[in-house]
Amino acid sequence: MPTVVLGVTGCIGAYKACEVLRELQKRDVDVHVVMTRHATEFVSPMTFEALSRHAVFVDQFRLGENGDIRHISLADAAELLLVAPATANVLAKFARGIADDALSTLHLATRAPLLLAPAMNVNMFEHPAVAENLAILRARGATVIEPGSGYLACGWLGKGRLAEVPDIVEAAMAALQRRRDLAGLQVVVSAGPTIEDLDPVRFISNRSSGKMGYRVAEAARDRGAAVTLVSGPTALADPPGLRTVRVRSAAEMEQAVLRESAGADVVVMAAAVADWRPANRSDHKVKKEVAARSIELERTTDILAALGREKGPRFLVGFAAETDDVVGYARGKLVAKNADLIVANDVSGAGVGFDADDNAATLVDSAGEVVVERTSKRALAERIWDRVRELRGARG
Ligand code: PMT
Repeated sequence: MPTVVLGVTGCIGAYKACEVLRELQKRDVDVHVVMTRHATEFVSPMTFEALSRHAVFVDQFRLGENGDIRHISLADAAELLLVAPATANVLAKFARGIADDALSTLHLATRAPLLLAPAMNVNMFEHPAVAENLAILRARGATVIEPGSGYLACGWLGKGRLAEVPDIVEAAMAALQRRRDLAGLQVVVSAGPTIEDLDPVRFISNRSSGKMGYRVAEAARDRGAAVTLVSGPTALADPPGLRTVRVRSAAEMEQAVLRESAGADVVVMAAAVADWRPANRSDHKVKKEVAARSIELERTTDILAALGREKGPRFLVGFAAETDDVVGYARGKLVAKNADLIVANDVSGAGVGFDADDNAATLVDSAGEVVVERTSKRALAERIWDRVRELRGARG
């Protein structure tokens, strides 16, 4: 029986959390409730205690709550942290890592996936601070169930109403289903750009931030895989719960990916590896007075193609960043590199592709194509893993 921690925060929609709880129980889910102080103004903890048949956790400093350090034991037991309704206040606390009550402390202590169902006044929901906090949480891997539009309890018309109970329950069940479905798999993911040095101060590189590859690695980790992330230079912190190998150049990435992929079940090449590097690297800064007007370049190894030539039972996923005939070029790469799946992203649009938090892609394999409309990179990562599972399953 999976365990869900249901966080309830101070909003009129709190009463709907009772229905969410009941619906999850009907699906054989064990629900523990954590309430903020303000939530208890709307619904009595007694209601949730009677429904869940567990003590409701409100105050971590109350006598009796620390026999087993409740915010840690519940955080460990949780297979999903669902917050419904989630107020602007709790979103801000989660985004900034504030831990000043039972729920926000548990949020920092848990490794469980986070599912948020925001609910608030339309002007609050549209405030840049709330949008920014939601973007931070999405980028960190949280799934957000969009609020509905319509007549709000405060009298305003607009977006901000807690999502419908069946939608929240369906999202929770989907998150639970994914939680261990990659257990036992060894996964290698490459991410970020490579840097090809001309001399100690100049280099050739590209605009990859690493976000896409990091989200792919984190999604695999959260679904139970043992993950090694081979990362080019990025500004991102090493994600917890997986192994990160830092490299700089295409040659270093080649070495690391080939070494780490030896026993891997799935390799995902999300990195934007340089196709060319300077043929001659100077150990000293080249003076502009003597610098040549053109740079001689040589090809780097195509790492994905090299893996494809020695494929064995490994499942290979490549990316393709294109600006035109995206699917056509991706199909060409699928065959040329002997990959099983190519994630074709059209990087010509604003707000997607390089350095953006969102992406849009077509998942191209020999059997067909799956279009994923613009969504967060984490949500795209989940769709990629869903597809990898389907294709590996079909292969037996
Ligand atoms: O990092 P972000 O800012 O989040 O941006 C994400 C992204 C746009 C970089 C990413 O989603 C993406 O599309 N990565 C691949 C970009 C790319 O280099 O595509 P390509 O068409 O040049 O290469 C095709 C495939 O071959 C890729 O899987 C690439 O990793 C691989 N390759 C390429 C060259 C090379 N020498 N070795 C390789 O393995």
